This record gives sequence, structure tokens and C-alpha cells, in this order.
Amino acid sequence: MIDARVFRYGVKAAARAAATLAMIAVTGCLGGPAERQSGAVAPSLAGVYADFFPIGTAVQPRTLSSHNELITRHFTSLTAENHMKLHTIRPTSSRVDYSGADSVVDFAEAHGMMVRGHALIWHEAAPNWFFHDSGSRADPEIIRRRLQNHITETVARYRGRVYAWDVVNEGISDSAGFLRDTIWLETLGPQYIADAFRWAHAADPDARLFYNDYSAIEPGKRERIVRLVNELRADGVPIHGVGIQGHWTLTWPPVSMIRDAIERYADLGLDVEITELDISFYSWDDRTTRYPTLTDTMEQRQAARYEEIFRLFREYSDVITNVTFWGVADDVSWLNYIPVQGRPNYPLLFDRAHREKQAFFAITDF
Ligand code: GLA
Repeated sequence: MIDARVFRYGVKAAARAAATLAMIAVTGCLGGPAERQSGAVAPSLAGVYADFFPIGTAVQPRTLSSHNELITRHFTSLTAENHMKLHTIRPTSSRVDYSGADSVVDFAEAHGMMVRGHALIWHEAAPNWFFHDSGSRADPEIIRRRLQNHITETVARYRGRVYAWDVVNEGISDSAGFLRDTIWLETLGPQYIADAFRWAHAADPDARLFYNDYSAIEPGKRERIVRLVNELRADGVPIHGVGIQGHWTLTWPPVSMIRDAIERYADLGLDVEITELDISFYSWDDRTTRYPTLTDTMEQRQAARYEEIFRLFREYSDVITNVTFWGVADDVSWLNYIPVQGRPNYPLLFDRAHREKQAFFAITDF
């Protein structure tokens, strides 16, 4: 198992994960014992999955303290929810701010956890200043140099500490065509993707480099991603994996669709990571507010859904190299704000009081 981890994650991250898992094996957890109402101690989620894949969570600098106990007890991999994105690191032309990203990486190291880097390029993290000079559109070559500088500096800063990077996030179109029509494509042309992977690889040759997207399991988009991977590889561009975001619902996608995508990517020899998992009670287009509280029936449905998904993940543990939840507990999920501001949602394994939900027990009790 350790050898496989070294191969997948690099020597340092593998050594950290091994030490952390050894501690979980001895103490049953990384933090203090959590009591269920029945008095039984809930297991560590990452401990239960130690032989399958690392379990991660997306964090913010403030949740490192507000959700400290859950994070240290249940997870062995961290992703910065927003603090490694371009607009956070470079909010203006004269400001560079790695403080949030540093706090996540330092915390991970102090607690023997791995870090996924997210994300070097994303169309929603494209600050206006990056594309302009003195009020008018900057020369594309200047923008390209800025991007190269950002990627090189960021990946080099965390070299050996961040084991994987989402190099391009959401760069493929949802329906027609091939590449998504973004400001990056418009400004730099299709070449920006290959360039970004090459720059990231040069800055840390040991980092695993991912293309990450939502709907990466939907057959049409899946095949466009496969086309991208094949084209990059034909050009000798280093790409090691596909990140399946996993913002799913109680009914979508069907497990068979997830299975087909995992197999398709694995057949290409790619690492597969589930990078942003949550199970919403609403479909994306549903803007109603039908669930003001979380009822027992709702919890049961969600638990059954999480269970079928994790059964599948366990079947493919030889190709899945990370499963990361998008947030720690329901109180800090982005789904309470997007797409409907202030609408409560309950997509994660821990409730607003940080208690394990039925979904937690459904995926740990097998
Ligand atoms: C996308 C991005 C994430 C996060 C979510 C939710 O999935 O990849 O970083 O911002 O949207 O907002």
C-alpha cells in the first residue's frame, strides 16, 4: 500500500499520509473522540477508507479553526475552497496574497495531510486587471506572460507540498463544440491549455496534473475531455488525471453513468479523483425553497444515495486516487448561497451542529 502511495502521490505526501493513517489506526482518530447519541464512538472517515483512497475536504482559512475537530478527525487531504484561485492570490495588479493558501498548506503539513491544489486556471477566477493595461485590453503576449508567471510562481511555491494540481478547471463546453468559450480561450487561443500544463510541470515535475470539470461523467462532455487528453498527450503535454467534480443530487447522475466515466478515464491510464463531492437536495435549475429543515426522510434518502455512490467508489479504488468533499459540514456549504442566496441545503456528511448524519454512517458501516 505504501509503495502504491509513493507512486501515486510522491515520497513526501505518501510518508505524511502513512504516518497519519498509522495514528488513526492506534487512536481511532486524529482529534478527540466524538460520541454518538448512543454513546458509541463514530469512526474516522479517512480511517475507514485508509485502504481505498484518501478522503479530502475543501476548507477556508476560517473553517480550519471553526471546523477543526471534524477536519483533523475525518480527513487526510485538503483543498483550498477559494484561496489558491488566481483572483484571490492576485486581486489587483499590485497585490499578491498567498496568506490564505499558505495557511491551508501549513495546516495540512502540521496534521500530516495531503493537499490538492485548486485551481490554476478557471474562467470565474479571471480578475479584470489581468486582461487590461491602463484601461484598455492588454496585448495577448503580456497576458500569456502574466499567466506563466502566476502558474510558475504558485506551483513552485508549494513544490513537494501540493501533490496534485487542477491545472485547468471547466475548460470544455457543455454542449456543442469542444473548448468552452472563456476569456482564456478568447485571449490566448486553444494553446493556453497545453501551455498551462507544461508550465506547471516545469515548476514541479513530481506534481500530478489534472483537468477538472463538472458533468465530467456526462457522455458527451466525457468524450470531449477524452479528446482533450488525447490531443495533449499526442503533443507530449504532461497530464496525469481527470478530476470529476461530483456536485450531484439525490437523483442525478445515475450510478451507471459514473461507472462508465471512471472506466473510460481509467482505460486511458489516467488517475481519477472525485474533487468536489456533495449531494444536493435540489437540481441546479430548481430555484424553489422546499426544504426549510432536514427531515428524517430526507436524511434517509441522502444516506441511500451516498451509500450507492461509495459502493461504486470502493469498487474502483485501484484507479480513484482521492475523494474530496466540497466543504466540511452543512453550515459552510456553498450550496446555501448558490444558486439561491440563503436557501438552506444539506449536501454533506455532517450537519449544522457538526454531528454525523445518516449518510456518514451509511458509508462507514459496511
Ligand atoms: C466550481 C469550482 C469550485 C467552486 C464551486 C462552487 O465547481 O471548481 O472551486 O467554486 O464551483 O462555487
